[in-house]
Amino acid sequence: MAKPFIKWAGGKSQLLSEIDARLPEYVKKGEPYIYIEPFMGSAAVALHLLDSTHSPTATVINDTNSDLVTLYQVVRDEPNELLALLHTFQNEYDLLQDKAAKQPYYYAKREAFNHRLASPTEHAALFIFLNRAGFNGLYRVNSKNQFNVPIGSYKQPNFIFEDAILTASEHLRKTTILNDSYEQVLETVKVINTDNLPVFFYLDPPYKPLSESSSFTAYAKDSFNDDSQRALKSFCDTLHKQGYQWLLSNSDTTNLDSQNRFFDDLYADYNIERVKASRSINSKGSKRGQLNELMIRNY
Ligand SMILES: C[S@@+](CC[C@H](N)C(=O)[O-])C[C@H]1O[C@@H](n2cnc3c(N)ncnc32)[C@H](O)[C@@H]1O
Repeated sequence: MAKPFIKWAGGKSQLLSEIDARLPEYVKKGEPYIYIEPFMGSAAVALHLLDSTHSPTATVINDTNSDLVTLYQVVRDEPNELLALLHTFQNEYDLLQDKAAKQPYYYAKREAFNHRLASPTEHAALFIFLNRAGFNGLYRVNSKNQFNVPIGSYKQPNFIFEDAILTASEHLRKTTILNDSYEQVLETVKVINTDNLPVFFYLDPPYKPLSESSSFTAYAKDSFNDDSQRALKSFCDTLHKQGYQWLLSNSDTTNLDSQNRFFDDLYADYNIERVKASRSINSKGSKRGQLNELMIRNY
């Protein structure tokens, strides 16, 4: 099965069946279509569709995080070289007996990652190492785009997800992987859709935080604030007018405050549903539980 080989905040693996149930009819029937995921993160939905009986004819995935995009390009283009490096990291890390011994190794790798001078393959291996050995699988950078997550407390984290990496590599071969802001993908769609196929977008932006203290996105280099959510809604209107289908996920602000109908109001013209999700990564890490999330679509 194709599944993500990294932990990513907001990863959609657990919501795949809810997403499947809401796919456009032409996707469910296995007819040709183009799939676009402008906020790919760990690309759980793209990998799931690429692995299914209703695999897209062409796929475009995109994210502003250039480290993440490099990782996915390397998985697509150089999976064996990446796995060889991960084997080296695994052997070296496993030989270090305890956290005190592992610490200097972790922080040296973090520094190397932040210099961003390594080859794309090395950079991708460093990404996976930090994602698996760092605290809670968190990806957090400061205003200078320096990754600042401390070492996690895993005794023997695993860095080698050979099957997941090789399967993803196979599937991503027919995928365009872009590093831009989400609006830009529209240009690419116009260029690749020469046969005028139906186009389906799954939009999974950084979620609106439910409270100030749970604000995870505020740590990101360019935080996604309420104005960004409104701009995204305008983009959805543009897609709608151009005849594309889209499904969008976001947090449900009524979870904590029944009066806060931010998305219900913003997307009042569209179809809004609530689904249950248990979130395992947030700013506190330890705070897990079932919350409603929104699934909004224009079809
Ligand atoms: C909620 S996550 C997506 C999670 C993904 N569906 C998964 O399964 O892992 C949101 C992603 O949007 C990216 N992002 C933030 N601002 C963006 C923008 N303006 N354009 C494109 N991507 C952006 C972040 O880097 C992050 O990877």
